[in-house]
Amino acid sequence: MISNCRLLAAIGEEFDRERPFEGLTIGTGIHLEPKTVALLLTLARGGADVISTGNLNTTQQAALDYLTAHGVRTVGAPTADSGEHDRYLREVLAAEPQLLLDNGGDLFVRWLEQPYEGLVGGTEETTSGRMRLEPLRDQIGLPVLVINDSPIKQFAENRHAVGQSTLESFLRITNLSTNGKRVTVFGYGACGRGIAAHFRNAFAEVSVVEIDPVTRLEALLDGFAVPGRAEALGRADLIITATGARGIVTAADLPLFADGTVLMNVGHFPLELDVAGIEADKSVAGRTDAAEGIATLELVDGRRVHILTGGHMVNLAGPRPLGNSIESMDLGFALQARCLEAVARGTVDASQCVVPVPAAIDAAVASAYVELAA
Ligand SMILES: NC(=O)c1ccc[n+]([C@@H]2O[C@H](COP(=O)([O-])OP(=O)(O)OC[C@H]3O[C@@H](n4cnc5c(N)ncnc54)[C@H](O)[C@@H]3O)[C@@H](O)[C@H]2O)c1
Repeated sequence: MISNCRLLAAIGEEFDRERPFEGLTIGTGIHLEPKTVALLLTLARGGADVISTGNLNTTQQAALDYLTAHGVRTVGAPTADSGEHDRYLREVLAAEPQLLLDNGGDLFVRWLEQPYEGLVGGTEETTSGRMRLEPLRDQIGLPVLVINDSPIKQFAENRHAVGQSTLESFLRITNLSTNGKRVTVFGYGACGRGIAAHFRNAFAEVSVVEIDPVTRLEALLDGFAVPGRAEALGRADLIITATGARGIVTAADLPLFADGTVLMNVGHFPLELDVAGIEADKSVAGRTDAAEGIATLELVDGRRVHILTGGHMVNLAGPRPLGNSIESMDLGFALQARCLEAVARGTVDASQCVVPVPAAIDAAVASAYVELAA
């Protein structure tokens, strides 16, 4: 696998020589799966003492074992318990890392609660994390580069790779076909665009629900139906949320669903589908877990609703989660490595707090990938 992380492999060779993180600790809170392992080992090659924990419900034990065997400190274990996850994040911060590699804003938010001297800055991987950290800029006051807001991350990962892996996850988990299925995608941002395109390319009939009128127009001109929310929910075989917002589909929507509707979430936090509220609704008569990653709710009127991976990111939870393609993650993680390097070397300053990846880093990573592909 590592041989497909060609950018990271080349950066690792450079880091062996240059050791940009010598003497520094990097604390990380990001999904622990094989591709992040490649990133964390690359940072360690740069001289970093890496201490890492995963995100809620996406940690793979094999990744923890591999990191431990290769000298990277790990904290915690796979968990879907937010209290337990909170303890793991705080344990990472207790090591007082100088750099943070955050995913969802979990580490920076907790650092603000209990700040320590010596934090130099770091990176944030996601849209959700950027939304959480933006209002805290003045309090953070350190360089924090948002990987998600690189155009490379937007088109390579969020659009192309998330689209592919969401489709792949639906097929793998349900073993259903996509042909002729009526699919409703909530959110037509980078992820939603890719998801809508990939399901259309798999012969599904795709509708988009988007709150921003300009983006909704874009979906329409891209050839997708843009019905009202209730109509889109009522006619869907499959509903996919990719908004970064919470409570997109709730118990109040249960009366609208057709029998057999499948619900799945791609957004970072397991809050887009209000699974707890839906399951607790009085119209739900029972629940069965017939297959790994699929909970089937039986409603009192006989309809069934299937929820995939408990509303957690469908491409990173559930059976044999593969996440996004190795090549897309290689690009995103090359941006991570270069941004952390820039923070460590002091080539970005506190005015660059929760801002996109500097254009020079985007250009260098893009050129390196094109050169390798040539
Ligand atoms: N699972 C993965 O592998 C993966 C990868 C990348 C990003 N993500 C996550 O996916 C989510 C979306 O990311 P993105 O980059 O597409 O974000 P984005 O900001 O580009 O797009 C989100 C879109 O959702 C729309 N929206 C917000 N609230 C809505 C609502 N109530 N109804 C309908 N539309 C609504 C917004 O107007 C926007 O167009 C985030 O949570 C992000 O962290 C997941």
